[in-house]
Amino acid sequence: MHLKHILSSLALAATALAAPTLSPSGTSLVINSCSKTVYVYDVASTLSGPHTIDPGAQWVKPLYFDPLTGTAIKVTTSLDALSKGEPQLILAYALNYEEKSIYYSLDTVSGYDALFQNKTVIVYGPANKDIPTIVWPGAPSHDGTKAYFGDTDLYFQLCA
Ligand SMILES: *[C@@H]1O[C@H](CO)[C@@H](O)[C@H](O)[C@H]1NC(C)=O
Repeated sequence: MHLKHILSSLALAATALAAPTLSPSGTSLVINSCSKTVYVYDVASTLSGPHTIDPGAQWVKPLYFDPLTGTAIKVTTSLDALSKGEPQLILAYALNYEEKSIYYSLDTVSGYDALFQNKTVIVYGPANKDIPTIVWPGAPSHDGTKAYFGDTDLYFQLCA
C-alpha cells in the first residue's frame, strides 16, 4: 500500500476510535403517565414517527447529535397533528461533544393540548445527577434553555 493511503487509513481509524469517548451515551425517555395515548415524532434532519405511546408506556431512544438541526421530540395527541397544525409539546435538545454537555428546552407550538392542562409535565434526569429540571405545573411556563455538563439520560414525563 502507498504510504499516503496508509496514513489516511490511520487517520480514519484514529477518528473512529476517538468518537466514542467524545459522544454522550445517554438515552431520551418519554413516559406517558396520561390517561390517553400520545404520539411521538423524533425530528432532526430526518423525521421518525409517529411512535405510539399508550397510557403507562414509554418510548426510549439514544440521545443523538444532529449538527444541522439539533433534535426535537414532538408529542401530540393525534396522529395527524403535525399536518393539521394541532398542539405539539416539544422537548428540543442539542448535544455538544466538545463540552460534553446537553442543552434542552420545552416549548409548545399551536397551543397546549387539553390532555396536559392542569397536569404536570416535567423534564428531569437520574436522581444521582444534578440535572436542572423543567416543570410545567398545569400550564406552559417560560423556563428558557437548561444545560447539563456531563453524560446523562433525559426523562420527559407527561401527566406526572
Ligand atoms: C383546568 O383548570 C381550570 C381552573 O380550575 C379549569 O377552568 C379548566 O377547565 C381546566 N382544564 C382542563 C382541561 O381540565
